[in-house]
Amino acid sequence: MNELKDKISRLDSTRMPVHVAMIMDGNGRWAKKQGFMRSDGHAEGVSTVHRVTKLSSDLGIKYLTLYAFSTENWNRPDDEVATLMYLIGWAIERELPELLRNNVRIHLIGDIERIPEDARKRLFDARDATAHCTGLQLNMCLSYSSRWEIADAARKIARKAAAGEITPDEISEDLFASNLATAGMPDPDLLIRTGGEERISNYLLWQIAYSELYFTPVLWPDFSDEDYVDAIISFQNRERRFGKTSEQVQNED
Ligand code: IPE
Ligand code: IPE
Ligand code: MG
Repeated sequence: MNELKDKISRLDSTRMPVHVAMIMDGNGRWAKKQGFMRSDGHAEGVSTVHRVTKLSSDLGIKYLTLYAFSTENWNRPDDEVATLMYLIGWAIERELPELLRNNVRIHLIGDIERIPEDARKRLFDARDATAHCTGLQLNMCLSYSSRWEIADAARKIARKAAAGEITPDEISEDLFASNLATAGMPDPDLLIRTGGEERISNYLLWQIAYSELYFTPVLWPDFSDEDYVDAIISFQNRERRFGKTSEQVQNED
């Protein structure tokens, strides 16, 4: 605990990420390692979501975007999908009082209509109950894939053009971004993927154009507060150049 406090005290408060995105991977392998069922790994992963949300909130991070279930995850065995849907509904309901206490606002991203009704209702209830909260915004990506989101944005823009509300020449990067599910939010500064795979798996492809990527072999259920702070320390030690030279960036500072 003291080690954690010490690490946190070494963070540069002027260079905190505003938006952190995470790919929560490794639940299945965590379970297998202990000789448990994959669903036990998902259940254990819920505790990590709880801790990561609390620490983000305590650190003053404004947006935390979690990849909880991808469009491609629908192709998993039926019983695993059913367990995940049950866990998502159960966890959001259980966490609601604490989310409210910590002033956390829930925002849902993805094709939520595909989520079974029981879990969907609990998700909508949590979203509505936290709508007034002004602290951390917790974006839960569910039944989400970036290509789905980009195609969806293109559809919305095409409809506006067909209705004569905009002309093709008005389609700018800003206009496109304002039709994504993350409209109005800054892009992630830091993307963390646990579980050892170094890939993006159809996540936030537009939004991570300039995010700092952090891959760790730690499996999601084992991802500790210290591991999270290590990722932020790594982020703070990087120079974000956005195409400029190092000298230019240093002169701006
Ligand atoms: C991440 O853990 C959770 C979801 C994708 C829903 P996995 O279930 O992918 O765990 P591994 O990758 O099989 O270990
Ligand atoms: C990515 O994890 C999706 C989520 C964390 C929800 P996966 O475990 O599904 O990714 P792949 O299929 O191994 O790339
Ligand atoms: Mg995985």
